[in-house]
Amino acid sequence: MSSGTGLWGGRFAEAPNEVFLRFQESLSVDARMWREDLAGSMAWARALADAGVITDEEAGRLQEALEAIGGELEGDEARIARSEAEDVHSFVEAALVAKVGALGKKLHTGRSRNDQVATDLKLHLRGLVHRMDEAARDLQLALVELADRTADLPLPGYTHLQRAQPITAGHHALAYVEMLARDRSRLADAEERMDTCPLGSGALAGTAFPIDREALAEDLGFGGGATRNSLDAVSDRDHALELTFVASTVMLHLSRLAEDWIFLASQEAGLIELSDAVCTGSSLMPQKKNPDALELVRGRAGRVFGNLQALLVLQKGTPLAYNRDFQEDKRLLFDALDSAIDCLVVTALVVRGVQHRKAACRRAAAASYQNATDVADLLVAAGVPFRDAHERAGLAVRRALELGVELEAMPAAELEKHLPELGSDLSEQLSVDAVLARRDAIGGTAPGRVRDEAAQWRAALHDETQDPLE
Ligand code: ARG
Repeated sequence: MSSGTGLWGGRFAEAPNEVFLRFQESLSVDARMWREDLAGSMAWARALADAGVITDEEAGRLQEALEAIGGELEGDEARIARSEAEDVHSFVEAALVAKVGALGKKLHTGRSRNDQVATDLKLHLRGLVHRMDEAARDLQLALVELADRTADLPLPGYTHLQRAQPITAGHHALAYVEMLARDRSRLADAEERMDTCPLGSGALAGTAFPIDREALAEDLGFGGGATRNSLDAVSDRDHALELTFVASTVMLHLSRLAEDWIFLASQEAGLIELSDAVCTGSSLMPQKKNPDALELVRGRAGRVFGNLQALLVLQKGTPLAYNRDFQEDKRLLFDALDSAIDCLVVTALVVRGVQHRKAACRRAAAASYQNATDVADLLVAAGVPFRDAHERAGLAVRRALELGVELEAMPAAELEKHLPELGSDLSEQLSVDAVLARRDAIGGTAPGRVRDEAAQWRAALHDETQDPLE
């Protein structure tokens, strides 16, 4: 097909402009859906035969030819890019006609590229959803392993990027495991909602042949059966939006992890060391080691959020039903999902290679009066109302600041004066380990609690022998 107009040339007296032809092609983006286009076409051939539109023998020959095309493409996918077809659907049809001649021209009976592309896309998204879920699960595993290793390693915890209270490094790692669990649940939810089959909706009004659409939906593995309204079916791209939103929350979470770790790895914090394998140097400054993997993840988040916005705006002014605008969806959608998958994989590499500077972590967690809340809590235990306890702990901090020491290092006389209820030696009660151990309620940072949570996550993640998304 050299003109690229094989599918619709009849009505036209003049050939399309070459520049326009190149402008309107989508093969460069949708070629990756060739397996799904073949699967959809085979199912359509069976459905046409079941409806008595073509014979079983014809359907058999079509299927055989489609399978042969699949076999050839497995070995030489680049062949698609070399063709001049306008999209993957016309590529497959041209290849079919080249194989079986006139019979190939029967396959498009009662079908439109509008219901075809809607179906191909949903089928293709299944694979991407599965890969994204797997990559998210693997990152969860990497974080759980890290949490196990660092369940009792103290780390300063921040609010407003000011040291607040000590936490454990394991607790920090598990925070991201929770975020990824929500991402995965959103993914499963979106997948379930998109599980209906548009094929058999025709261009917009439905198909004029007695196709058993429920059987067709089942044949293609759509658990939710056939779509119920042809206008909606060919113009629904909610799944593109939903999955790009999921990709966006994934990227948001990865970007926050990146930001946290870039800071922890900075000389200013000096609390973690990233693996050389995920950092780069400077072409000018010989001493530099830069956290590029994490910076690229953080930067990529912007692109994915932009794609979500573009997909929303792309659809807002489109009248029912299909409009060519929709062709623009795939570049944005695929880029968002590919990006999220790549970034999940790269982040898992970073997580598996990280080393905590243990002594520095412990030192930093024990400094800057992060145990002041515990002073107030200890006063509460001695019967002081919390508001008063807070005020007195604050005054003690102010005095310790004047003296240039931590609270527990204040001279006995000062402790006696400011905190008489607590005795003259607070070193044990205010130690970072004691502060951590107290936070043992569900959701807390105590080492025992973190170890339990990590063990539960590990079991749950390993238990996923049967992937619910498959
Ligand atoms: N390539 C198109 C897309 O990705 C599908 C073809 C529908 N084209 C059309 N002119 N109705 O949306």
